[in-house]
Amino acid sequence: MDKRPIGVFDSGLGGLSTVRAIKKILPNEDIIYFGDTGRVPYGTRSNETIETYTAQDIKFLERHSCKLIAVACGTVSTVSAELIKNLNKPATGIAIPSAIAAAKATKNGKIGIMGTSATINSGAFDREIHSRYPKAEIISVSCPLLVSLVENNWIAVDDEVTNAAVKRYLEPIISAGCDTIILGCTHFPLLSPIIKNVAGEGVTLIDSGYEEAKYIKKLLKENNLENDSERKGEYKYFVSDKPQNFYTAANTLLGEDIRNECEFVDIFKYI
Ligand code: DGL
Repeated sequence: MDKRPIGVFDSGLGGLSTVRAIKKILPNEDIIYFGDTGRVPYGTRSNETIETYTAQDIKFLERHSCKLIAVACGTVSTVSAELIKNLNKPATGIAIPSAIAAAKATKNGKIGIMGTSATINSGAFDREIHSRYPKAEIISVSCPLLVSLVENNWIAVDDEVTNAAVKRYLEPIISAGCDTIILGCTHFPLLSPIIKNVAGEGVTLIDSGYEEAKYIKKLLKENNLENDSERKGEYKYFVSDKPQNFYTAANTLLGEDIRNECEFVDIFKYI
């Protein structure tokens, strides 16, 4: 039994899709969440900058003695994959769990990937899928606008602007006949109802947050790090910009008021 929290971080609030799934799958685990809301987006930045931010974010979580690091950001998971792999504790991003799920789900071998520009340019999802399904045909699309739409909470299923953006981004994936789409950015599961409508029947969406949470469960078990199953998890949220914006959006995404659990942190102190 290990009482230490799971450390989860993202460039902003998209990582709450992972938190939502962890709370469901591992309700007894504590979570420390860091959302780098002062520096979002990461996905349009250089690899060097993303790696610097990643190192700072991890340093912050390590001060909280996290037992496992969950990178709830597609951009960090793919661009900083080596850094995550070489941490001195169990850690995961979203790429491996999502690739495993997609390789299992596809029937026609055609897999679409939606991600940020940095994620798509890294080719990391392609590599993870091809190592499990060498013949897979992959259509990758970078969808940077969707990040801003989620950050602004334009996620209602009938939102005209978001629907139009999703249609435009999905066009190459639909034309290629993909039967499986990886939501390769943790902001995108928050748009699942819209993406599902646009993609249509018969297309499986891989929710990166949910797949990551299942993978975390497996890692905790393998490393003997599970917490007492009788207790209820506690949650603490830190952000690098004013907390108000974050907890207002979190209210919609998590369906609960987290204002008393949410604090500002000066991430520049963690160098
Ligand atoms: N949550 C980030 C990701 O999954 C997207 C936002 C960003 O560009 O920082 O890549």
